[in-house]
Amino acid sequence: MSFRNQINVSKLPDHVAIIMDGNGRWAKEQGKLRVFGHKNGVLAVRDTVEGAAELGIKNLTLYAFSTENWNRPKLEVTALMELLVSTINKETKTLMENNVRLNAIGNLEALPSRCYKELKEAMEKTAGNTRLTLTLALSYSSRWEITQASKKIAADVVAGNIKEEDITEALFSSYLSTHQLPDPELMIRTSGEHRISNYLLWQLAYAELYFTNKLWPDFRREDLFEAIFNYQQRERRFGLTSEQIS
Ligand code: IPE
Ligand code: IPE
Ligand code: MG
Repeated sequence: MSFRNQINVSKLPDHVAIIMDGNGRWAKEQGKLRVFGHKNGVLAVRDTVEGAAELGIKNLTLYAFSTENWNRPKLEVTALMELLVSTINKETKTLMENNVRLNAIGNLEALPSRCYKELKEAMEKTAGNTRLTLTLALSYSSRWEITQASKKIAADVVAGNIKEEDITEALFSSYLSTHQLPDPELMIRTSGEHRISNYLLWQLAYAELYFTNKLWPDFRREDLFEAIFNYQQRERRFGLTSEQIS
């Protein structure tokens, strides 16, 4: 039986976050350049987004480019930025058809101006869509985000907009770039690596982590469904005992 049919649709995670990893290794396996892997990664993005929307997931966040990825060879960085522009351009129509809102988090001003412009346009165009919020983490790192939030809070305290005693976990969350999103209940990483790589450190505090050996270009909606089914078999205790939960 497919995993799709075994999922309890009344208990879906509200927010699934993914680290799309393994494009380079996928290309290398076929004797191709790394960029070939990134291009094929787009097909996996399309299928995963469609699968998430069809299932009824409200929020999907994809790690597309980290702050640290700027230090890759210039040729790869340029190719990734080009791919970003052309993909956003091509996919905006599909996002509209599927009622998907595009959102982005990260240091977006560091992106080449054409990328930033294309991204902003697509976000504005899809702003009214309600079925699924697709967030791209771009030029993103969690430590950068947390540092930015801390600076803004400090500035607001100095300006007298808030008082030190107003600083709670909820207030801190509201200064993060994910302030409109619930915390992810499920985080998936492909390619067999078991690490977080500076992704949503604050937001993943109680997320269920799911790792698969599949390389990102091979990932399809059925793999997403398998991860969600696996997530639904777990007992989330949040520090309580099992007896307290049941
Ligand atoms: C993920 O695949 C895509 C990005 C980080 C942009 P990688 O490019 O990291 O692929 P591997 O991990 O080297 O195989
Ligand atoms: C994490 O993958 C970033 C993205 C998927 C965009 P990396 O391939 O950059 O992470 P490390 O270097 O293996 O930790
Ligand atoms: Mg990688």
